[in-house]
Amino acid sequence: MTTDTEQQPPALHESLASIAFLLGTWRGEGRGEYPTIEPFSYGEELRVGHSGRPFLTYRQRTWALGSGTPLHVEVGYVRPAGADRAELVVAQPSGVVEIDEGTVEGMRLTVTSTLVGVTSTAKPVARVTRTFTRHGRQLEYTLDMAAMGSASARHLHATLELELEG
Ligand code: HEM
Repeated sequence: MTTDTEQQPPALHESLASIAFLLGTWRGEGRGEYPTIEPFSYGEELRVGHSGRPFLTYRQRTWALGSGTPLHVEVGYVRPAGADRAELVVAQPSGVVEIDEGTVEGMRLTVTSTLVGVTSTAKPVARVTRTFTRHGRQLEYTLDMAAMGSASARHLHATLELELEG
């Protein structure tokens, strides 16, 4: 007898075809910088999954290389918006939430914030642009932001390896 807890893994929702290249557990290293801070390196795990519904789940955690001290984490969803557009909603414990929208070209997603929300005590972030590009079993991403009163500048660049198919 099957119960609700014994269901087969769900089939990928048909609307996710163009962003399915993001699926998987990805692990690797990145470099951070910004005009107002010292450059730094970090380790990262990014899990992109699905539940059969028309969105991808997005869960990221990072740590300092060497010490393993936890750094930034964020969770969110990637939503397809037609065949060649997608939306990212993401929440960060630093008091920042982003709504990003943009384009899917082959295995590259480029999104820019249409809204950044910050809590009263969060650092000021005005605008974010993120790219995610898959090269075979690698996922490369960049994040540029306008924050701390500065014009848009690179904050993050990482290359992650596919550890587990999604
Ligand atoms: C891989 C993810 C990330 C890592 C490892 C990371 C790491 C860091 C580190 C180490 C600093 C400097 C120390 C500090 O202020 O805590 C920093 C500063 C900052 N980060 Fe990130 N960050 C990440 C993602 C983000 C994202 C997604 C945003 C915004 C959308 C963001 C916005 C900022 C801001 C506004 C600062 C402050 C700069 C300053 O104080 O002048 N970070 N980040």
